[in-house]
Amino acid sequence: MSLPFPHRRRRKQMSAVNEILAQIGAAGRQEDGGYFRGCYSPEYFQAVDIVERQMQKIGMETDRDAAGNIHGVLPGNDPKAKSVVIGSHLDTVPGGGLYDGAYGVAAGLAVAKRLREEGKILRHTLEVYGFHGEESNPLGGTFGSRAIAGQVKPDQPGLAEALAAYGHNVREILDCRRDFSGVKCYLEAHIEQGDLLEQEGLKIGVVSGIVSVIRYRVTALGQSNHAGTTMMKNRRDAMVAMARLIAAADEECRKIDDTLVFTVGTIACQPGSENVIPGRVECTFEMRHMKKEKTDCLIGRIREIAAGIGTADFEITNKIDKGSVSCDSHLMEVISRSASEAGICHRIMASGAGHDANPMAHVTPIGMIFVPSRGGLSHCKEEWTSQEELESGTEVLYRTVLHLDEEAKE
Ligand code: GLV
Ligand code: MN
Ligand code: MN
Repeated sequence: MSLPFPHRRRRKQMSAVNEILAQIGAAGRQEDGGYFRGCYSPEYFQAVDIVERQMQKIGMETDRDAAGNIHGVLPGNDPKAKSVVIGSHLDTVPGGGLYDGAYGVAAGLAVAKRLREEGKILRHTLEVYGFHGEESNPLGGTFGSRAIAGQVKPDQPGLAEALAAYGHNVREILDCRRDFSGVKCYLEAHIEQGDLLEQEGLKIGVVSGIVSVIRYRVTALGQSNHAGTTMMKNRRDAMVAMARLIAAADEECRKIDDTLVFTVGTIACQPGSENVIPGRVECTFEMRHMKKEKTDCLIGRIREIAAGIGTADFEITNKIDKGSVSCDSHLMEVISRSASEAGICHRIMASGAGHDANPMAHVTPIGMIFVPSRGGLSHCKEEWTSQEELESGTEVLYRTVLHLDEEAKE
């Protein structure tokens, strides 16, 4: 029996950021509650369609490019004022969560929507990007943002083949590069993906910089042989040699620095049969830190240890080398001020995750706003941030945009 008003429970109206995020969440949702919107996949383009419709509803001009990005523009009224660009990514890792990337796009759109609803026309043009291929993928991660920032190298190993498999070519991607001379700055809101904010009971992280992402292809070459007849003392088992190297590298990493991280996220074994000693094992070794000397130190130790493992030969080649970047100190100050004015407790912190802001830092000043991740969980279906926290991040983004718009003419 439903209770007569006012006793009937009233449902809280969803804010714009949560509504837009929920809509994006219709794309690539899996039965177990996780998400997968892979590179150039139908699920990814379903998210692009949703974002494009939202942009058009808000009154933004939209365009797409061959790198898979969606871009919306809300024109300002001062032709001399440069654009404020907001962005993040719409792709996900396999089995990822709702918030990684999609939140930043939804927050940018919620800011544009609020400006329209309040009848505010900024001096600066406001642009919002939904980027493609930010997560690790055959095109190398931060793909869409690297494309517009002119950071895609035509000789990137495997790029031409990977693009051909998606029905694209390198020329088209190089042509996606845009002119940044008319851009004032790039802003990105994102979930923290760690547990620092939650541990400290804070609601906003003002990001100071983004760690490097450095990946090596490491191959152990042993000798395939019969699993029953080859005595242990005679084996050249590539899997065991790789296991020794991984365990030793993990130990070395812990000795070098508290904030240096090391991950082996992929492994391929050949011939991959239950009764054959592995002859070849290939892994990716990933390491991240703000300082290059720390990652250089770790890869140096890994090479020394590999040379001392007698039961396999190792080949170690660099695959990805995205250096760390710093956020712009003025943008950090404006973001901190915006949070303080909104009464939201915040702290300065570095990002251990990679972001589209990394390639952007090569072409324009960057600023990033973090909101808490429950339990520090991310890249999994358990990823979660409360609606109120998502709204706080959007509020800080909105106020930051207004402050930047009030600044003296460039
Ligand atoms: C992207 O989320 C990354 O940090 O790898
Ligand atoms: Mn992300
Ligand atoms: Mn991610």
